[in-house]
Amino acid sequence: MKTKNMYSPARLLAGLSMAAALGMAVAADESLEYFPRTPIDPAKGVEGDMEWSGTLPFWRDDQALAANAKLIGDHHEEWKLNMKFIDHQDDMHPGTLDIDIAEKLLKDWGKKHPKFLTCLGEGKTDYTGLAATYPKYDANLGKVMTLEGRVQQCAQDELFINLPQGSLTNIRITYYLKSKSAGMPVKVDISSKPIMEAFKRGEDLFFKRAGQFGFSCASCHAPNGLLGKKLRGQTLTTPFGDYASYPAYLSGRGELTSLQQRFRICHVQMRTAPLRPGDPVYQDLEVLYAVMSNGAPIPGTSMR
Ligand code: HEC
Repeated sequence: MKTKNMYSPARLLAGLSMAAALGMAVAADESLEYFPRTPIDPAKGVEGDMEWSGTLPFWRDDQALAANAKLIGDHHEEWKLNMKFIDHQDDMHPGTLDIDIAEKLLKDWGKKHPKFLTCLGEGKTDYTGLAATYPKYDANLGKVMTLEGRVQQCAQDELFINLPQGSLTNIRITYYLKSKSAGMPVKVDISSKPIMEAFKRGEDLFFKRAGQFGFSCASCHAPNGLLGKKLRGQTLTTPFGDYASYPAYLSGRGELTSLQQRFRICHVQMRTAPLRPGDPVYQDLEVLYAVMSNGAPIPGTSMR
């Protein structure tokens, strides 16, 4: 009798409604797993900021920055310049020394290993505009390459040395190459399928909660999060346009810092284990950030 009762229609129904309740719990879990999404349209590039912070008109180019210079030092308003005001000055700062060091290194290495120089330039030694086209899919290697990834690969193939992503020498060369695209807009090829796949993964990561506090990148950098609000003395700025400015000399760290090292700093703030620069997760995030900077001018030397 007892066994039969277990399969009675009433029990089955009860079981089904339990499953439905569980299903609902799974659906509710989605919001525990992800921060509510604000759409990112890859085709809009940096213009997408108009639906995020709307601060783009303040920092989109040198003219806009000059027109809004009065906001510099204004405790409440300065964040609207997206930290770009220091980027676009050609004043001497320690980062400019890094460019000189990289230039000398390339000259010295290039004498013995000219193929290292052509490897960096994808066949050319004129690097003008090259950095603006990264990250990109390399059909020969069958993978998406960031500029730092390219520096590492060329050092490996042509100099037989390891210049890991995130190492100072690698970042210096990346910074130098970036300076050769000064004034040019970021131009990532969004018609490339592997790039868009990386973008999608990066976008997913941006909204995914992680770490002890359940923060996502969006919790701090999206308009329905803390964007424009103060957090421990710093005002959270838009992620649009950031890619154009990295690597940057970070005066707080006293060191040239790559974009992926900046991700590490935020991961630590989120109480999430930081990853190594070059990790596929950081690479996908870098592609997302690069696409969100499409159209933004690359500064000669950046600083924060
Ligand atoms: C707890 C809040 C918080 C979270 C979560 C967070 N960040 Fe940040 N992030 C900051 C603060 C504060 C700054 C410095 C102010 C600014 O530029 O917005 C910053 C700056 C940055 C910058 C440099 C901006 C610039 O112009 O120099 C990047 C890039 C960045 N964050 C990426 C990320 C990514 C990617 C994630 C997710 C993995 C993330 N952040 C998660 C707080 C956060």
